[in-house]
Amino acid sequence: MKFKLLLAGSLVAIGAMALLANNINEKEKQRVELTKAPSEAGIVGKEKSEEWAKYYPRQFDSWKKTKEYDTFADMLAKDPALNIAWAGYAFSKDYNSPRGHYYALQDNINTLRTGAPVDAKTGPLPTACWTCKSPDVPRLIEEDGELEYFTGKWAKYGSQIVNSIGCANCHDDKTAQLKVRVPHLDRGLQAAGLKTFEESTHQDKRSLVCAQCHVEYYFKKTEWKDAKGVDKTAMVVTLPWANGIGKEGNAGVEGMIKYYDEIGFADWTHSISKTPMLKAQHPGYEFWKSGIHGQKGVSCADCHMPYTQEGSVKYSDHQVKENPLDSMDQSCMNCHRESESKLRGIVHQKYERKEFLNKVAFDNIGKAHLETGKAMELGATDAELKDIRTLIRHAQFKGDMAVAAHGNYFHAPEETLRLLSSASEDAQEARLLLVKVLAKYGAIDFMAPEFDTKEKAQKLAKVDLAALAAEKMKFKQTLEQEWKKEAKAKGRANPEMYKDADTINDGKSSWNKK
Ligand code: HEC
Ligand code: HEC
Ligand code: HEC
Ligand code: HEC
Repeated sequence: MKFKLLLAGSLVAIGAMALLANNINEKEKQRVELTKAPSEAGIVGKEKSEEWAKYYPRQFDSWKKTKEYDTFADMLAKDPALNIAWAGYAFSKDYNSPRGHYYALQDNINTLRTGAPVDAKTGPLPTACWTCKSPDVPRLIEEDGELEYFTGKWAKYGSQIVNSIGCANCHDDKTAQLKVRVPHLDRGLQAAGLKTFEESTHQDKRSLVCAQCHVEYYFKKTEWKDAKGVDKTAMVVTLPWANGIGKEGNAGVEGMIKYYDEIGFADWTHSISKTPMLKAQHPGYEFWKSGIHGQKGVSCADCHMPYTQEGSVKYSDHQVKENPLDSMDQSCMNCHRESESKLRGIVHQKYERKEFLNKVAFDNIGKAHLETGKAMELGATDAELKDIRTLIRHAQFKGDMAVAAHGNYFHAPEETLRLLSSASEDAQEARLLLVKVLAKYGAIDFMAPEFDTKEKAQKLAKVDLAALAAEKMKFKQTLEQEWKKEAKAKGRANPEMYKDADTINDGKSSWNKK
């Protein structure tokens, strides 16, 4: 009896072990299967993510779901002070919160910021503005050379850049491994004294692929000669990281200011205060790196592309979560023990605190611009306004860096609040100096006009939205149609992308509301 029991016990144990071994084998098979290389020759037409679908159906299907993130907010209406902050610059025409990667390309074409070119040579913007929108960009950098890619106006590549962010932006098509496809990231990492992509750990690569685009950058004017000896000027995407990023919880913003001041760089001259301004892009990577999750090695993909179970298969959810708080069971609860609702509440407090200081800072910045404008009107000289303008330049860059990447409030709450308060302090210091200048010119009780709605603020910033929208519409009916025709004829495009991403006709554009 005893023996029988023992035997039965052993049989169960052996069975369980066999099952476990099977399971391990199965898991290993899955892992190999999931990361198997499509072919040694790579994928023909790899810019079209559809070409990857037959090898990686799960990643493809979830990637396509970035299309579900199809709404955005008109930030110029949500935060009217931004209209004043960006007066004279393209961002004061049109600025929306982001939506899914599926729309990146079409949103770039539709925004009033890219203007209404009439042929390949007209602007206003340089080719560099396509850089974080499409896997066709690395293709063109490889075909034409980096400097040629960065030479000329945006419209030069209208018929060439036709697929939105996809597989070939983040993966090697021969090995399916993670890969960085643009040279500016490694140059930036080296300038900051950090490891290049290939030198980095696998876990770091799970964030670095995002840093190809979710970073602060500027266009560095670069003179060069092509093979025929023709003089050309390229505007090269460059990361201002030479003074370091993410060290000891500091995102590196003051270092970037020092960098830009030393090279005398300005994105534009403010149309009201004539301040040489800096525009922040979307420093998601730098802030994440300075925050607690970045410091503890939690990658972008851990929260935004969490592992998903489909039957017995585990894979990375390629929907790239718009808001990981909507998928907390996958994105957060592996590491956190409190209840989802408690954790969500904590995150919301962070948002509220950011909103409070955001408002204070940009209210001060807006008033500083308007008060400077008034002082100029009354005859104040550039010499009298020099220190004031420097303070405004620094205030606005700090404030913009803190909020331009919409996740900063969560990725790095303390750093975001520190920069917003520093921005507010600089702007207030400028306003204290302005009181004296205004008094000297007889405007002792000047009060800046209100800018608490988009309409009021755009009037002060002198934005003629109707004219811009009419030009844009004309562009969409003419040149953009030619681009599409050519791209389709040459088989470069994914026809479906055009069909549903062209939101201009469904009232989803902030400048084309029906
Ligand atoms: C090739 C450039 C590029 C890469 C690489 C990239 N992004 Fe993006 N991302 C963008 C652009 C551009 C947008 C804005 C798209 C729009 O609004 O049309 C965006 C938007 C987003 C959004 C907002 C989505 C929404 O619905 O609001 C999130 C979240 C995001 N990206 C996360 C990531 C993460 C995480 C990675 C790395 C795994 C990554 N991105 C890699 C360019 C990129
Ligand atoms: C924005 C960057 C980005 C894009 C775009 C992207 N991936 Fe990924 N992919 C990742 C990351 C990050 C991982 C996780 C890699 C790891 O940890 O090894 C991943 C993992 C994978 C894996 C390994 C198995 C898994 O699921 O973890 C495959 C296969 C894959 N992706 C295929 C694709 C395909 C096919 C597309 C296009 C339809 C695509 N990826 C688009 C970033 C991206
Ligand atoms: C891979 C593990 C991991 C994941 C995934 C993760 N966290 Fe964390 N989180 C941490 C660690 C580690 C800390 C630091 C806590 C500590 O060491 O005391 C932290 C800290 C925090 C804090 C406190 C940070 C602060 O403000 O000081 C909050 C809030 C938080 N996480 C929310 C989230 C949310 C929300 C998600 C999902 C969207 C998430 N975390 C996903 C590991 C993780
Ligand atoms: C610990 C989890 C976690 C990590 C790690 C993380 N994020 Fe986020 N991310 C979030 C949460 C939560 C939000 C806030 C969503 C909201 O408030 O709408 C967010 C917001 C964002 C947004 C703004 C989305 C929108 O629609 O406005 C972008 C873009 C983004 N993250 C990109 C990144 C990138 C790039 C990295 C890595 C450099 C990263 N995230 C790392 C959890 C994370």
